[in-house]
Amino acid sequence: MLAGKHILLIIGGGIAAFKSLDLIRRLRERGAVVTPVLTRAAEEFVTPLSVSALAGSKVFRDLFDLGDEAEMGHIQLSRVADLVVVAPATADLMAKMAGGLANDLASTLLLATDTPVMIVPAMNVRMWEHAATQRNLATLLGDGIAVVGPNKGDMACGEHGPGRMSEPMEIVAAIEAKLADGPLKGRRILVTSGPTHEPIDPVRYIANRSSGAQGTALARALAALGAEVVFVTGPADVPPPDGVEVIAVQTAQQMKEAVEAALPADAAVFAAAVADWRVSSASDRKLKKTKDGLPVLEFAENPDILHGVSQMKQGRPPLVVGFAAETNDVLENATAKRLRKGCDWIVANDVSPATGIMGGAENAVTLISDAGAEEWPRMGKDAVAQKLAARIASAINT
Ligand code: C5P
Repeated sequence: MLAGKHILLIIGGGIAAFKSLDLIRRLRERGAVVTPVLTRAAEEFVTPLSVSALAGSKVFRDLFDLGDEAEMGHIQLSRVADLVVVAPATADLMAKMAGGLANDLASTLLLATDTPVMIVPAMNVRMWEHAATQRNLATLLGDGIAVVGPNKGDMACGEHGPGRMSEPMEIVAAIEAKLADGPLKGRRILVTSGPTHEPIDPVRYIANRSSGAQGTALARALAALGAEVVFVTGPADVPPPDGVEVIAVQTAQQMKEAVEAALPADAAVFAAAVADWRVSSASDRKLKKTKDGLPVLEFAENPDILHGVSQMKQGRPPLVVGFAAETNDVLENATAKRLRKGCDWIVANDVSPATGIMGGAENAVTLISDAGAEEWPRMGKDAVAQKLAARIASAINT
């Protein structure tokens, strides 16, 4: 899929730079042409010789190198690629990008480029969580820059948490999704997925058995067709797919806000199992056993996100798709639900325990639109996702 694609790979100065050597190999195995750029700090972690040998290319290092400028000026260098990838993207590089600084070759290329940019952050967990880095991240996302990772885990500095650079194959998948020339190229699609968690107190919550598997498979399938996917997910069992913009939320209220912030979109698919109710009497302290009897929980209705988006007067996505998980009278309930919510399609499925669908690997769905109901045979959730993504592509493109 990457044959002939040109990647300008900017390697920042962090311990994760060693993974970028493997990334270069993986990209070249897939036919990509890699032009490497090293920051000064990166040279402390990997040598220009090993980068050059693996990339099979000259390494660009200096903004004021007369030889380089004569061969290929830095402005030209910033424009030759199909994609500029910054891996690892250090806190410093992210700050420079967000501020528009251009005081070395890497930052100058990033300011001068007119091709899409993807960053793969890697840094100490405190640096990642620092308000300044999060502010810069929000700026970069707002500028349309794709962000891959970081992952959670043990870090070279001995701490634990988010900040580990994504693995080379995760980065390759994200690059492939970004450069995919599918029927959804240039289309922005919103997908909600997973359950929501509604707190009872700081340690307890109400949830449901949604694993997020179907929504995740769908987001992956849409990205594979070239879509720019915004994936708003509750706390799911399965990890989010690579190559999509992940917005992680806990509650229905947060999901609603994330969905509204993610619009406009060419299509929106609501695969999340949103809790219908939240605990309005949620306590900010852990509830204790008392002699005065059992706690009484009071509930309030959650916003219906699908209904709200379907009814938007302005900026409604041209295609709005809901899911209907039913345990009985599936067709009847789902048909009524489509009209009640005002969405264009409903993907209905039977989640009664005997089917093994909720949390399982397979799904049997009926697609309900104004053309009627279409029953699909039972198949893997990935296959359902691919079929649905193809239908979405043809609906959007006609
Ligand atoms: O009403 P019900 O929960 O059965 O409808 C299911 C559909 O509505 C799903 O597409 C789900 O993602 C969406 N939904 C929502 N917000 C809610 C409840 C459901 O977006 N509060």
